Amino acid sequence: MAGCSSKGKAVNIIELSYDQYLEFEKISIGSFAPLNGFMTQAEFVSVVENMRLPNGAPFTLPVTLDLTTKQFNTLSVDEEITLLYQGVEVGIMRVQESFECDKMNVAEAIFGTTDIKHPGVANFVGSGEVFVGGPVKMKCKAQTKLSRYEMTPYETKSEFKNRGWQTVIGFQTRNVPHRAHEYLIRVGLEMVDGLFVQPLVGRKKAGDFTPEAILTAYQHLIGNFIRSDRACLGILSTSMRYAGPREAVFHAIIRRNYGCTHFIVGRDHAGVGSFYGKYDAHDLIDDFKGELGIEVLRFHGPFFCDKCDSIVTEHTCAHWQANPGSIREINGTDMRSILLDGVKPAKELMRPEIIECIQGIPLFITESDR
Ligand code: ADX
Repeated sequence: MAGCSSKGKAVNIIELSYDQYLEFEKISIGSFAPLNGFMTQAEFVSVVENMRLPNGAPFTLPVTLDLTTKQFNTLSVDEEITLLYQGVEVGIMRVQESFECDKMNVAEAIFGTTDIKHPGVANFVGSGEVFVGGPVKMKCKAQTKLSRYEMTPYETKSEFKNRGWQTVIGFQTRNVPHRAHEYLIRVGLEMVDGLFVQPLVGRKKAGDFTPEAILTAYQHLIGNFIRSDRACLGILSTSMRYAGPREAVFHAIIRRNYGCTHFIVGRDHAGVGSFYGKYDAHDLIDDFKGELGIEVLRFHGPFFCDKCDSIVTEHTCAHWQANPGSIREINGTDMRSILLDGVKPAKELMRPEIIECIQGIPLFITESDR
């Protein structure tokens, strides 16, 4: 962490975990605007219950700093706390208050379930017992192994401006691109000046694709198949919550903060297993129509139709109802399990060039990576 000073004399110290550091950093650089700190109790309750901040601004997921009771007992509330990451001072926080919550009730509200097989629920339930809220200020940005692939909202806005883009469509992903993803971004790109592919690379569940595999694949796709003068690639380092509809709105708000004017939400956005309906996120986005500061383009599943001999959607394919046997669905989970078995997905579902370029790279996150 070049340029960061070490520890200092402060007594009130919180040592941030990697996940917490990333949340702190995202707040500080404006990714989670209008937040300027970890949520206070009033913000937390308002977001959990109403999906809005107390001033009414849409905000669908909590951004909190959790501590164990033991950690918390060493702090003085209402004092300036030094935030350390890997022993180095990265910023300060004015801890305004601390609070606890009924985690099961909150999990039910956020994730629609209390099942700890849900990775977002497991992570939330396993977090520290006490939350501390208050504004933060970054003194020093840590260099992680992926930092060079990340741009701040200030940097993306400048980049879009330099490229002369008035309209930019954001694409969230946690997968190596398959043909349905490619279809979504191509259709999106038909409508705007530029595309911002922003893979999420923070904490994800074991079995998800590694950041290296996703970045390598998109670096190949852009330039070789998608015009590089119309596409920009940069990561978002924050945890995947797997909160389905709420997270789709959260992701749209984040991309607005990075300067996107449009955002893609397809099938089962930020979903996991069968916890959410395929298009639940579309319905929730409707509830915030005109309020998010970004236009959300909602897509119904692209799939491959053998009769059309191309990627199509329910809107355009003449066969999906009358002749469902001609349809081949494409989703990230299937692609991952095919690749995990060492088999190459059919070329209609994933480009052979993409499969080729990720050979030899660790493809999947393991328990020990997390
Ligand atoms: S995630 O954040 O939604 O988990 P993922 O990589 O799986 O990321 O999907 C990226 C985007 O593509 C999301 O908006 C998702 O809804 C959409 N998507 C992925 N596969 C399909 C598909 N077969 N049909 C429609 N949308 C899809």
